[in-house]
Amino acid sequence: MLVFTNKTKIEAHITSLKQAGKTVGFVPTMGALHQGHMSLVKEGLANNNLLVVSVFVNPTQFDNAEDLDKYPRTLENDIALLKTVSKNIIVYAPSVDDIYDGNTVAKQFSFDGLEFEMEGRFRAGHFDGVGTIVKRLFEIVKPDNAYFGEKDFQQLTIIKKLVEKHNIPVNIVGCLIHREASGLAMSSRNVRLTPEYKNAAPFIYQTLKKAKAKFGTKSANKVTEWVYKQFDNHDLLKLEYFIIADVDTLKTVKRKNKTKTYRAFIAVYAGDIRLIDNIALN
Ligand code: PAF
Repeated sequence: MLVFTNKTKIEAHITSLKQAGKTVGFVPTMGALHQGHMSLVKEGLANNNLLVVSVFVNPTQFDNAEDLDKYPRTLENDIALLKTVSKNIIVYAPSVDDIYDGNTVAKQFSFDGLEFEMEGRFRAGHFDGVGTIVKRLFEIVKPDNAYFGEKDFQQLTIIKKLVEKHNIPVNIVGCLIHREASGLAMSSRNVRLTPEYKNAAPFIYQTLKKAKAKFGTKSANKVTEWVYKQFDNHDLLKLEYFIIADVDTLKTVKRKNKTKTYRAFIAVYAGDIRLIDNIALN
């Protein structure tokens, strides 16, 4: 398996393959790969001649130095896991300097307001960091197709906006959320959950499923109130937000409209670990 750490070298390699007519799939990750990532990898392998997987913990998208510090970094395991699927995957695992050339700051983006909802409200500058790294990676890898999980649904929506606004010639493919047997959405952060929090965390998806059932007959406000109540007295999980939003604008729903598509979004602290999840409602 080819592992590149240098942008000039990987760019040259990919350019020669593209000149030979190969299509390039791309799965950007921050490593600590799990089955959720692997489902994106399989989708990418099935639909392209070659697949690039980047492994880079991007400092500019973290609003909290401790979270960045504690983010799991498991490159050797990640490469071993990728090898089990295909030896033809190309890994790009750059250093911070290779990406940022000594200037580790995020560029500023406008995503037409999408960036101010939900995660944007609670993680200042997060989407500028995501926009910066994803645009940079697209410039280096020049993929035909790039794969992102729906667990980060707001991120997926914003990346589609990034591509549209900057005319980047890549097809963005959203992939379904992968869940552990307990229902907990797969995340690199799950490995940091103690057994106690791991046992408690499936409550998040159980609550989302109940909220979805209630949304059939109740208003968005009533469902939201109900969800907040479920977490009021929870011993281990602390609700940061629960929002029912329009999938196009990501704005909180005030009044249901039959022609619109809605999703419920949630962020919860399990100790110092922040977990997010979401569910389609109609
Ligand atoms: O979803 C992630 O893992 C990251 O936000 C991404 C897209 C790899 C950018 O750093």
